[in-house]
Amino acid sequence: MHVTLVPSGEQLEVEQGESILDAALRAGLNLPHSCKAGRCGTCKARVLYGSVTYPAGRPLALSAAEQDSGYALLCQARADRPVAVETRQIESVTDVQIRSLPCRVQRMKRLAPDVMGLWLRLPAIELFHWQPGQYIDVMLSAGRRRSFSLANPPGESALLELHVRRSGRGEFTTQVFGSMTEGTLLRIEGPLGQLTYRPGSGPLLLVGGGTGYAPMKAILRHVLESGVARQVTLYWGARTCADLYEDAWLRDLAARESRFHYVPVLSDEAQPGSGRLVHEAVIAGGEPLGQADIYAAGPPEMVAAVREQLPQHGADAARIVFDSFEYAPDALARPK
Ligand SMILES: Cc1cc2nc3c(=O)[nH]c(=O)nc-3n(C[C@H](O)[C@H](O)[C@H](O)COP(=O)(O)OP(=O)(O)OC[C@H]3O[C@@H](n4cnc5c(N)ncnc54)[C@H](O)[C@@H]3O)c2cc1C
Ligand code: FES
Repeated sequence: MHVTLVPSGEQLEVEQGESILDAALRAGLNLPHSCKAGRCGTCKARVLYGSVTYPAGRPLALSAAEQDSGYALLCQARADRPVAVETRQIESVTDVQIRSLPCRVQRMKRLAPDVMGLWLRLPAIELFHWQPGQYIDVMLSAGRRRSFSLANPPGESALLELHVRRSGRGEFTTQVFGSMTEGTLLRIEGPLGQLTYRPGSGPLLLVGGGTGYAPMKAILRHVLESGVARQVTLYWGARTCADLYEDAWLRDLAARESRFHYVPVLSDEAQPGSGRLVHEAVIAGGEPLGQADIYAAGPPEMVAAVREQLPQHGADAARIVFDSFEYAPDALARPK
């Protein structure tokens, strides 16, 4: 089906059952998105003519009033007839080409009881560029996909570093903690997402929850290793000390780099000096939120709290860039 993007005038062919966002990404057009699960609202756009449908009903992040006013969530919207939608194209990352590539698991390392570090090797002849903070999709059967953030900065394109948290009975992560071995072949697509480091001169505030630390690590390393002169504070929230799997490295880095400040935050009340959520620690930390560029990634509840609460304490909502670690749409649609 034919979809026109306004104001860019780009034309898309959307396949049967494919979302408008997926068709755009397949065509190399980076439209605003994050969760791709209908839950964060980042892909909201206005339908100018035609109409869209939702296979699983109106998504969570689209109110009935918004739907009635002609808004749609492109990550879920299907086009059964020609449609024009008004949406912004992300200029800053259009030079990054979205690719589908095979790769091999080169190295696996248990980082925490439920977190596996995976290092993926791409074919030697392929150049893979990304922006610090972006993610890739690991492709499963029948076009289904699972998203994981890249934990290393772009200069290291020979190996992609992922931090994969085991997810209950989750399909892919059960494989990672079970049958996967070094040498396993995977297919990935990427780079994806708008959580990307944006150059500037103000302080940077990085907020990661659990494996939401992964994209923060990529940004942190990019800033420190490329000599960018900005103050960086990382708040890393987890339940227990064991979940802060790179705590020692971060403490050491903070001791060596005067412009880097590291604040570990433990939510489990049984841990000494803890019992706070990471956004509460940011607010209590007295950071100059109004001047900061804020990056956040992790569990949806944590990201929602950062987006809601920090602007109430002076942060500029337009300067909060985030990835909400939602489950994939096919997993959310599964009966419990
Ligand atoms: C932009 C983005 C970036 C992300 N980055 C990361 C990252 O860097 N690291 C990371 O760890 N995660 C990340 N995530 C989250 C990750 O993509 C999800 O956790 C992923 O869905 C897990 O895949 P899975 O196949 O193991 O689980 P899924 O199969 O997707 O299952 C998801 C959930 O459903 C439950 N479930 C599955 N099957 C059943 C069943 N039959 N009955 C009942 N319940 C069931 C599982 O227990 C699990 O809780 C990211 C997500 C997004 C959107
Ligand atoms: S709601 Fe569409 S990307 Fe999150």
